[in-house]
Amino acid sequence: MINIKIEGVPYQVKEGLTILEAAKACGYEIPSLCAFNHGECNSGSCRVCLVEATGARGLVASCVYPVSEGMEIRISTPKAVEARRRSVELLLSNHNQNCQQCDKNGKCELLHVANITGAREGAFAGEKTEVFYDDVAPALVRDTSKCILCGRCIARCANAHGLGILGFENRGFHTIVAPAENRSFADSPCIQCGQCVTVCPTGALMEKSEIDKIDEAMRAGKHVIVQAAPAVRASLGEEFGYPVGTPVTGKMIAALRRLGFERVYDVNFGADLTIMEEGTELLGRLTKGGVLPMITSCSPGWINYAEYNYGDLLPHLSSCKSPHQMQGAIIKSYWAQQKGIAPEDIFVVSIMPCVAKKFEKEREQEKVNGIPDVDAVLTTRELARMIRRSGMLFNRLPDEDWDQDIMGDYTGAGVIFGVTGGVMEAALRTVYFKLTGKEYGKIVFEEVRGHDAGIREASIDINGTVVNVAIASGMKSASVLLDEIRAGTSKYQFIEIMGCPGGCINGGGQSYVRPAFLPNEEDDILDTYKEKRAKALYSEDERQVIRQSHNNPQIKELYEKFLGEPNSHLSHELLHTTYAAREGFND
Ligand code: FES
Repeated sequence: MINIKIEGVPYQVKEGLTILEAAKACGYEIPSLCAFNHGECNSGSCRVCLVEATGARGLVASCVYPVSEGMEIRISTPKAVEARRRSVELLLSNHNQNCQQCDKNGKCELLHVANITGAREGAFAGEKTEVFYDDVAPALVRDTSKCILCGRCIARCANAHGLGILGFENRGFHTIVAPAENRSFADSPCIQCGQCVTVCPTGALMEKSEIDKIDEAMRAGKHVIVQAAPAVRASLGEEFGYPVGTPVTGKMIAALRRLGFERVYDVNFGADLTIMEEGTELLGRLTKGGVLPMITSCSPGWINYAEYNYGDLLPHLSSCKSPHQMQGAIIKSYWAQQKGIAPEDIFVVSIMPCVAKKFEKEREQEKVNGIPDVDAVLTTRELARMIRRSGMLFNRLPDEDWDQDIMGDYTGAGVIFGVTGGVMEAALRTVYFKLTGKEYGKIVFEEVRGHDAGIREASIDINGTVVNVAIASGMKSASVLLDEIRAGTSKYQFIEIMGCPGGCINGGGQSYVRPAFLPNEEDDILDTYKEKRAKALYSEDERQVIRQSHNNPQIKELYEKFLGEPNSHLSHELLHTTYAAREGFND
């Protein structure tokens, strides 16, 4: 510990902290923009965090300047206050000012610091940098008129995936953030995971909203059916003031019903179906000499990465579609048949923690007879926007239950799909049963649990058959396992890969975790939010009476009455897909 003074008051703080971190620990919020997540991005470029400190010449950027023994820090001198205000005014002078049309409104960090520094638009009028707007890709929108060149997106893409899709292009006043040569995301090897969106402080990077498509389908009198993924319930509450990781399943269902959806289903049913198909596929590969290790295929960010970077390993990927695509295919076939509705008159909406699902639903290989399984994908954030515009007071909604007809049952195995390691655990519960005829005694496979990026591994002995498994989330970790397969040194039979670090609970479409907007959370919320959201899903698994996919009564009925058996001809037609290697840059 070292001794410092802030505004003349003595404090002891840990050595090695920046002034910004030390001030936070002592109860001061110095405005900041480019600094993010313990130095994940620390470019010191925005100059919004300037303070005075002894030992320094002039003002210093508190986000990069370390504290030292005896340092005296002044945050509120007229010189520091004025400098911070000017820094924000300079950013505003080159910023698109159509805030009322911006989807980031209410969560914009630039507006937040403008507010606390007293910065006013128009203080510096003049020329603006040329604007580029890219909305060609199905999942992402890039609008350079709102970019403040903080570099947080560049850092996140590199840290999560080892990718450098985004970078600084041009020089000086003409600098922008863009894929190489200012190409569209659609013409780059971007995996469309949306991690860059989760860290962007302004509306410069956003998911491509599909709310209008839903309004249009409802106006056209379609049967608009909604299905929500497990991870959404663990994050949606944050949009309405609930503590991070509070499960809000019942209120979310109530909201969806009041928004006008004809049926409200849980994607967990689709997750159970995925396990039946994927578990059977794994067993087939294990017992009949198929390509091993088999790798899970429910994360479209990961699929994009594989197609761009590991085209030679595509036979290792499970052919299973992801749970919401499978469920969409069942809604437009079995459900439609039962209800006597033409598939063309059904409009399926998926609420997802994921941005890449917007891309996935457009893939030709996902369509059945030219009809997409899913017609629109909304992120958790977009659902929150729909709820807000409806005037509903979310926290006053009653807790309601999913529609129970045909696909209302789900198991604990389906719920944990939202956490890294969850698909693996759910699959192991069913594979164990299929191989031994008995349920796995303790239910929980602790070895594969976790909520962070990095690689976890385990060996499971199933009746003398040892299955070596590994789990990775974030492409940086995944590439280690993939390189082993390429080199012929992989010891695994089954690998789970999720695109986003931590899995779907930390998906690119989840609620933004911004300490500045979460005043009631602990200071370390950026370290703990994944764990808190994971707990919400694990506790829902524990509450379920049925916790193995193969015991879901409606799944059994679906196979008896419609699909036949897992991996049947009809299952393959509706529930499985193909992959193809892709070039990274298209001309
Ligand atoms: Fe310190 Fe941007 S937050 S320079």
